[in-house]
Amino acid sequence: MKLSRKFQKLLDSSLIVSVRERAARWTHPVNTGCIFESLNKLEFERIRERAPYRPNPKRIRKFIKSIQDLWLDRSPPLNILDLGCGAGYFLYICKLFGHDGVGLDIDEEPLYRETLQLLNIRRVVSRIEAQVLLPDLGERFDLVTATRVCFQYKRWPEKVGRQEWTPEDWRFFINDIRTRFLKPHGRLFLQFNPRPDDSPFFTPELHECFLREGALISRSRALFAADPTRHPCFKQTESQSS
Ligand SMILES: C[S@@+](CC[C@H](N)C(=O)[O-])C[C@H]1O[C@@H](n2cnc3c(N)ncnc32)[C@H](O)[C@@H]1O
Repeated sequence: MKLSRKFQKLLDSSLIVSVRERAARWTHPVNTGCIFESLNKLEFERIRERAPYRPNPKRIRKFIKSIQDLWLDRSPPLNILDLGCGAGYFLYICKLFGHDGVGLDIDEEPLYRETLQLLNIRRVVSRIEAQVLLPDLGERFDLVTATRVCFQYKRWPEKVGRQEWTPEDWRFFINDIRTRFLKPHGRLFLQFNPRPDDSPFFTPELHECFLREGALISRSRALFAADPTRHPCFKQTESQSS
């Protein structure tokens, strides 16, 4: 297939997913006001006294969109692992929809310690490293997520001379999640920010690598099924107990 046709096909499939998601969000609206109300009730003032801090509404809205796109607003309770969970807002909102979850992150940002406590989000402190198995958490998950992924930058948050995971490192990580963390019908969801120079995360090499691993790629997001032979699906209507 010619390269231009390949790109057109990619564009078309991304467009279809995007239109479908917009339609699904429109036909299944969530009460965003309730989510903000719930956050507003928390005593962020306690944190604000020491640091100018409040949940970023734009980011909260993005989390809500991801939650809708993953059907978390209308699926039975799922067990979720959020990698690089940061302040804990994604898991907090998931919990408002009846899900349970745990975050995993390094412990470099003192503010996150406080927000996680305020939001009542459990966090495992661990650094995700290239070609290193994640620590055993003693349970499996219906969904493993990572939003605004940064752990592929070695030595993050250092900005100078940071190296990035190779396709081989990504294969190792995806296989680790699939074989040790996901339930048989589980999913892995990764959402990437643009690169520091504003180019998209998916270089042709990484795009190819993720597709080979069975990802469904839509814009800056990739979704994997636990079983590499199965087609990943944003919609999940049942949780698996084992
Ligand atoms: C841009 S923030 C995103 C936080 C959160 N997921 C969100 O969307 O708001 C990136 C997060 O990844 C975490 N992180 C970076 N490198 C990591 C690593 N090697 N292992 C685990 N967490 C890491 C950071 O501590 C930070 O919380």
